[in-house]
Amino acid sequence: MTAAMSTRAAGLQPFLVMEVLERAQELERQGRPIIHLEVGEPDFATPRAVCEAAHAALDAGLTHYTHSMGTLRLREAIAARYARLHGVEISPDRVLVTGGSSLAMLYAFGAMVEPGDEVIAATPHYPCYPNFIRFFGGRMVEVPSDPHDGYRLDPDAVRSAITPRTRLILLNSPSNPTGAVLEPDRMRALCELGLPIVSDEIYHGLTYGEPATTALRFRPDAVVVDGFSKRYAMTGWRLGYLIAPSFMMRTFQTMQQNLFISPNAFVQEAAMAALEEGDDDTARMRETYGRRRDLMVGLFRELGFAIPAMPQGAFYVLADASRYTDDSLAFAFELLECANVAVAPGVDFGEAARRAIRLCYAASDDAIREAANRVREYLACRG
Ligand SMILES: Cc1ncc(COP(=O)(O)O)c(C=O)c1O
Repeated sequence: MTAAMSTRAAGLQPFLVMEVLERAQELERQGRPIIHLEVGEPDFATPRAVCEAAHAALDAGLTHYTHSMGTLRLREAIAARYARLHGVEISPDRVLVTGGSSLAMLYAFGAMVEPGDEVIAATPHYPCYPNFIRFFGGRMVEVPSDPHDGYRLDPDAVRSAITPRTRLILLNSPSNPTGAVLEPDRMRALCELGLPIVSDEIYHGLTYGEPATTALRFRPDAVVVDGFSKRYAMTGWRLGYLIAPSFMMRTFQTMQQNLFISPNAFVQEAAMAALEEGDDDTARMRETYGRRRDLMVGLFRELGFAIPAMPQGAFYVLADASRYTDDSLAFAFELLECANVAVAPGVDFGEAARRAIRLCYAASDDAIREAANRVREYLACRG
């Protein structure tokens, strides 16, 4: 007898960016020279100090389980970072170290969302959010963010979307895919709507104007998910963390003990080095990303893609492709097959971005220029 899939698992939607990446890799195996602007990860190597710390940890035999919540040293270092950068005091007991911010999100929604609950979030949005929420029987209520307001979430629009079923508000600043950064006043207004807050701060450290504000500044009881993937170029190390109010921590600890046991021992040592020595590397990467952002926005605007607002953070440009298509998924595969350029289809980020493509500028200047050339040539002969 074959096992049926649970409706919970079968109800998940594919992460389309990964589908484009996987097809791009297949084409590369056939010898095609693909330029990757689809996947959302730094093209920089992980800082040397981080790699050296991991080597040293392996040599020292740190290859076993740690405390389920993560090493105290790392939790203290994470708490100290919030005090230093944001002036917010959090106890290390309120930090849970996880396998990437993705796992932190799984725990947060798993602990907070009941079947039938609604979670309010801006759209265009990170593709996995509705799937996380759906996995626990909830529903994401999408509040459109206005491109002409820099795609920043409007507190009044959020207020209008609140119903008796609303369980929490999910924030993401800087945002994937729009690059929107919530300025402190707006962050405060959203935090003051009175509902529980989950704040995905994974792109903190990657802003091109003012630094991003943590929700913890205005809501000490916010649940923050963050990690090492983006600002320290550590996507493959799979380390993140969750910060939550004390009363939730025992539940999160129990979840981690059962579902994951503990985060990787030697990766936590590497993360210590990232916190202690990685910020200069982040600053260098940020400077380069900022330049590439300007390059990419300029080149793709010339090609007829509308980019109403300059992204202020993360490393993405959401470019309106409605001049060329009303089906971004087909268009993304078309650019891949015909122009050897991999981009993310906007529809992955919600219906509001159905006619857009997301371009990641964590790619070299040459790659960005060459991608724009290829797209130009292809669109010219496509007619
Ligand atoms: C908005 C957002 N949140 C969370 C994640 C997950 O990151 P990780 O699990 O590597 O920490 C990503 C990855 O692209 C993201 O864009």
